[in-house]
Amino acid sequence: MKMLLLLMLFYGSVNSDAVSKPNIIIAMADDLGIGDPGCYGNTTLRTPNIDRIAKGGVKFTQHLAASPLCTPSRAAFLTGRYPIRSGMASRSKVGVFLFSASSGGLPTNEITFAKLLKNQGYSTALIGKWHLGINCNSRDDFCHHPLNHGFDHFYGLPVTNLRDCKPGSGTVFTTAIHMFVFIPLQIVGIALVTLEALNCLGLFRLPHWVFFSCLLLAATIIGLLACFLHFFRPLNCILMRNHEVVQQPMSYDNLTQRLTREALKFINRNTGTPFLLFLSYIHVHTALFSSKEFVGKSKHGIYGDAVEEMDWSIGQILKALDKKKLTNKTLVYFTSDQGAHIEEVTDKGDIHGGSNGIYKGGKANNWEGGIRVPGLLRWPGVLQPGTVIDEPTSNMDLFPTIVKLAGAALPEDRVIDGRDLMPLLQGKILQSEHEFLFHYCNAYLNAVRWHPRNSTSIWKAFFFTPKFKPDDSNGCFPTHVCFCNGHYVTRHNPPLLFDISKDPKERHPLTSKTENHFHEILRVMQEAADNHTKTLSAVPNQLSWGNLLWKPWLQLCCSSSYLSCHCDREAKGRGKGVRL
Ligand SMILES: *[C@@H]1O[C@H](CO)[C@@H](O)[C@H](O)[C@H]1NC(C)=O
Ligand SMILES: *[C@@H]1O[C@H](CO)[C@@H](O)[C@H](O)[C@H]1NC(C)=O
Ligand SMILES: *[C@@H]1O[C@H](CO)[C@@H](O)[C@H](O)[C@H]1NC(C)=O
Ligand SMILES: *[C@@H]1O[C@H](CO)[C@@H](O)[C@H](O)[C@H]1NC(C)=O
Ligand SMILES: *[C@@H]1O[C@H](CO)[C@@H](O)[C@H](O)[C@H]1NC(C)=O
Repeated sequence: MKMLLLLMLFYGSVNSDAVSKPNIIIAMADDLGIGDPGCYGNTTLRTPNIDRIAKGGVKFTQHLAASPLCTPSRAAFLTGRYPIRSGMASRSKVGVFLFSASSGGLPTNEITFAKLLKNQGYSTALIGKWHLGINCNSRDDFCHHPLNHGFDHFYGLPVTNLRDCKPGSGTVFTTAIHMFVFIPLQIVGIALVTLEALNCLGLFRLPHWVFFSCLLLAATIIGLLACFLHFFRPLNCILMRNHEVVQQPMSYDNLTQRLTREALKFINRNTGTPFLLFLSYIHVHTALFSSKEFVGKSKHGIYGDAVEEMDWSIGQILKALDKKKLTNKTLVYFTSDQGAHIEEVTDKGDIHGGSNGIYKGGKANNWEGGIRVPGLLRWPGVLQPGTVIDEPTSNMDLFPTIVKLAGAALPEDRVIDGRDLMPLLQGKILQSEHEFLFHYCNAYLNAVRWHPRNSTSIWKAFFFTPKFKPDDSNGCFPTHVCFCNGHYVTRHNPPLLFDISKDPKERHPLTSKTENHFHEILRVMQEAADNHTKTLSAVPNQLSWGNLLWKPWLQLCCSSSYLSCHCDREAKGRGKGVRL
């Protein structure tokens, strides 16, 4: 009897050892839609390596990004908290950082999972995109930089990939240029023509200085626009290694290969220590790109080529794990930061955004297409291969999940919104621990999701919805993304209610005639929203205009003379392929 007990204790401890301190690899795509990977039903885009993760592990079908936009979604992912709690949710139209010389970013008092894992002895690396700020007050305080948030190593883009970063790919500033350049120019022009006409009719004598001031004003506006467009790329499209700018402007040549090689080197260096590798792909945000081996190979143009190149990169990582016998010691997670960007269609009509499958909407709105993202987890020996889980889960859940696996304690001085996924992943519980989830559009509470404990329904109530343009489309076309407030949205009172479990396409809003408990359901959801709102405390807004705008004294430049911020310290390694 004693022997049996000892044996049980022995196996118990072996078992718990096996499920503690695994390596963690997070592969996050940018703007990849849930309709893109093969394992989510795509039959023409080839993603064999992403599919391999699904086959060997767990596939979530209702995995939700905490926000439909890069900066807030990533802030929530790293901290396990709704982005509004860290001030990473905007109150204006601009919800993400656009400049390397902005002062906003993930506040230093926020705790990322990287920081907690590092304290547990993990080697930690971020390879790829950051997009959560760089500096606060001077260009070398690096207060928001990945190395200040728990990563030992950083190689990648401190800001983001944008169309403006790749010559010939157009600009994302069309709306802003219209508002701040074309409209003022028109006003100046009309004023000038009117005054000149009055002058000709002899009704008003136009002093020369007025005429020339107007011309000067127009020339200044045009000059500023030209400067902005000319300098945007070198000043903001930057590749860094730790604190050093290594390529300015960054080059797209073999970029995915370079990121992959860096990731493989990191794995090779850390075969003996637990590690956290956050591989934050530049793919498949625009500007789209891919290396020679992938150009023209997919059935979906340059978007498909980019997806297939990313999938190749994931394959290289999985292969390295096998080769180093790390597969069973490594939890691999694959996701996207939000849904596909529906409005990414070029002037020529080429589709540069991905597919959200059957779901409505996309990036920057909270219809299912904007937030329901791929969510795959593989850990052989611990997670049952081929498992599919339909319960609602959030990208914030990774925080408590991996922090607990690393043996660290969760912070107790703050609200953590994520929930440990292990019980659900291992089938110990069958229902998600999220009874309610809150969907924010920037800083505005947009919708509530309720999965009652005693029912299979998934209620989703919208307080407002974006006004799609054109009306019959699936996006907000002229503005490039949907906005979250003002006359860009339609408010709903009573809220627009759907049962996502029966109507995943969000086609048929319920009424008191079609749903007997209509008012009762909305009452509970409103109460949950009120309860949630009470848990928020006032924090500095990291995306205020003051924190978003370009501050010359924060500008990163690879040359200390600041005369020319162009350099390429990558050149020597560029030609080398990936060696395994
Ligand atoms: C597969 O992905 C491509 C590229 O996003 C898309 O055009 C196509 O519609 C998708 N197919 C399915 C069945 O969702
Ligand atoms: C890894 O785990 C799987 C599933 O439990 C098992 O079949 C395989 O033998 C393990 N491989 C190694 C190298 O331990
Ligand atoms: C489920 O529980 C809620 C209270 O949480 C109750 O109002 C509702 O009637 C219950 N529904 C069913 C189907 O039992
Ligand atoms: C809201 O909070 C009150 C007080 O804590 C609690 O009794 C109630 O059940 C909560 N309502 C919901 C819907 O969570
Ligand atoms: C990209 O890598 C390939 C080999 O993988 C090499 O032949 C090519 O020269 C590289 N291109 C550039 C622009 O460095």
